[in-house]
Amino acid sequence: MRTNTRPESTPSSMDTTAGSVSISNVTKVYFGRQTLADKLLKRTSPDFEALSAINLEIEHNTFVSIIGPSGCGKSTLLNIVAGLSKPTTGEVLVDGQRVTGPGPDRGVVFQSYALMPWMTVAENIQFAIETVYPTMPVAQQKEIMQEYINLVGLSGAERKHPHELSGGMKQRVGIARALAINPQILLMDEPFGALDALTRGFLQDEIERIWEQERKTVILITHSIEEALLLSDKIVMMTRGPAARIAKVLDVPFPRPRKREELDQYPQYHELKAEMERHLTAEARVVEEARVRASV
Ligand SMILES: Nc1ncnc2c1ncn2[C@@H]1O[C@H](COP(=O)(O)OP(=O)(O)OP(=O)(O)O)[C@@H](O)[C@H]1O
Ligand SMILES: [Mg+2]
Repeated sequence: MRTNTRPESTPSSMDTTAGSVSISNVTKVYFGRQTLADKLLKRTSPDFEALSAINLEIEHNTFVSIIGPSGCGKSTLLNIVAGLSKPTTGEVLVDGQRVTGPGPDRGVVFQSYALMPWMTVAENIQFAIETVYPTMPVAQQKEIMQEYINLVGLSGAERKHPHELSGGMKQRVGIARALAINPQILLMDEPFGALDALTRGFLQDEIERIWEQERKTVILITHSIEEALLLSDKIVMMTRGPAARIAKVLDVPFPRPRKREELDQYPQYHELKAEMERHLTAEARVVEEARVRASV
């Protein structure tokens, strides 16, 4: 049984219904930049509309996956929700408050781990806690740090540096660091993309277990149909870019806790899987046709 080491004043501990996300009419245009060399050579780089009118309502404690062709704008959308990038038009509200930058209510797990290489596992996690809760007594910070190291199964590796860890271990540090600040919303950008199939499956099961234990709103970007079906309540299917949109939102009705080996007993599992495969194949075909036309 985990002890509650949270200070009373942390926002998430006060309101268990927090963590709703409302994305309204979000567009994102990357404006073409003209360097001095471009000006001299009279070159212009055109503007690029990555996202077009994205609308999505996510209720608190819902697990949402985003799936779509490569380069369609999934990371762009997640970064806007994280407050790391600004929408060109539209807005994101978290519990009714407009997102204007990153905040402790949103923890981010990056695909590339983004750990501090000179810090140990323990220091990486404690650094995040002390940044968000600077007045918290150090003993309490350490207690929380240890709690999350244990939660992701990293006890014994506290003093190791990132270069001494496997990819799967680094990703666990990233997950522990994001969870340790007790965010009500967890944003994960292809967290298991770089891992071998076995480690990936193991970490997916861990995320399912942790989510059962610590209900949060989760937005997960993934390229894996099976991963999305195992973990999500809803799956957002995006169209190809430019000007990517949401094509459809699927409901995933399977009861929890879920076990991967049991899921394919549900006829609906195969229907949803086929629908996602059809969508991704159709979008990829258009991209491929455009590429072939451009090269002839
Ligand atoms: N800073 C930037 N400046 C200009 N264009 C950008 C920038 N960041 C992303 N893009 C473009 O916006 C589009 C969406 O990129 P994004 O990284 O969001 O896609 P993605 O769906 O996450 O792709 P992947 O599945 O490969 O991770 C791409 O065409 C990309 O080239
Ligand atoms: Mg991406």
